[in-house]
Amino acid sequence: MPAVPPGAYRRYALVYDLVWAAAPYDRFVDLCLEAAAAQGTAVRRVLVAACGTGNAAVELAGRGYEVTGFDLSLPMLSVAAAKPWPDPPRLVAGDLRAVPLGDGWADLVLVLNASINYLLEPEEVVAALGHLGRTAAPGGTVVVEPLSPRFVHQGWAPGRHLDRDGLRLDASYEVSGDLLAERLRWSLGGVEEAETYRQRLYSEAELEALLAAAGLELAERRPMWPAIPAQPARGRTLWVARPPG
Ligand SMILES: C[S@@+](CC[C@H](N)C(=O)[O-])C[C@H]1O[C@@H](n2cnc3c(N)ncnc32)[C@H](O)[C@@H]1O
Repeated sequence: MPAVPPGAYRRYALVYDLVWAAAPYDRFVDLCLEAAAAQGTAVRRVLVAACGTGNAAVELAGRGYEVTGFDLSLPMLSVAAAKPWPDPPRLVAGDLRAVPLGDGWADLVLVLNASINYLLEPEEVVAALGHLGRTAAPGGTVVVEPLSPRFVHQGWAPGRHLDRDGLRLDASYEVSGDLLAERLRWSLGGVEEAETYRQRLYSEAELEALLAAAGLELAERRPMWPAIPAQPARGRTLWVARPPG
């Protein structure tokens, strides 16, 4: 059996949407589109990188955008594929470090909810950002939402301890410098699971340097809160960048 690529969600795919049920992806999408509009980007095609269970991608497709999503995790993509898309979904297996899309395809490129932080080496982040910039059309916008230090140090209660709809979940971060081990234990329908995912928390200064090294120009940092007055938005920020050229 082939090894599961590090970073790719495994069994957690089965409960991810229950954990994030309160997250207003429609509002996250609004904010991303507002960020693109502020850059003067006319959006028709959207690439949702590390799309997970497709929450943002389905929302965008439902609004009539042409959407492609990719993720390293086949279980996450299976959950995404089962959702009510208006047209057959364009979902592909792919890695942030080798984005499976042609140059200049997307007007708007999104990588949301800390997906970039599963890349543990700064060079991998630069490679990923370079690919995301490459897939953006001239005049396009790239929106990256890195892991918020608030989530690591204060957390968001339902993401830490949850007892709802038959799911019981306990999550914790083990912090070692800027490396994090996210330990997840949960039970659903009598089945107990435990998984650990590793992330790296990049500081604002590091992120600025990584974007610059990838040739992206940071245009603004757009806080989700209080524009989105919902707990899952607290502490989260969209980094809005312009691709080269
Ligand atoms: C916290 S989830 C976020 C999913 C989605 N962006 C969202 O907002 O719900 C992180 C996702 O990143 C994916 N992932 C981790 N490393 C990846 C990589 N190198 N390339 C593509 N996807 C990756 C995981 O499989 C998982 O689906």
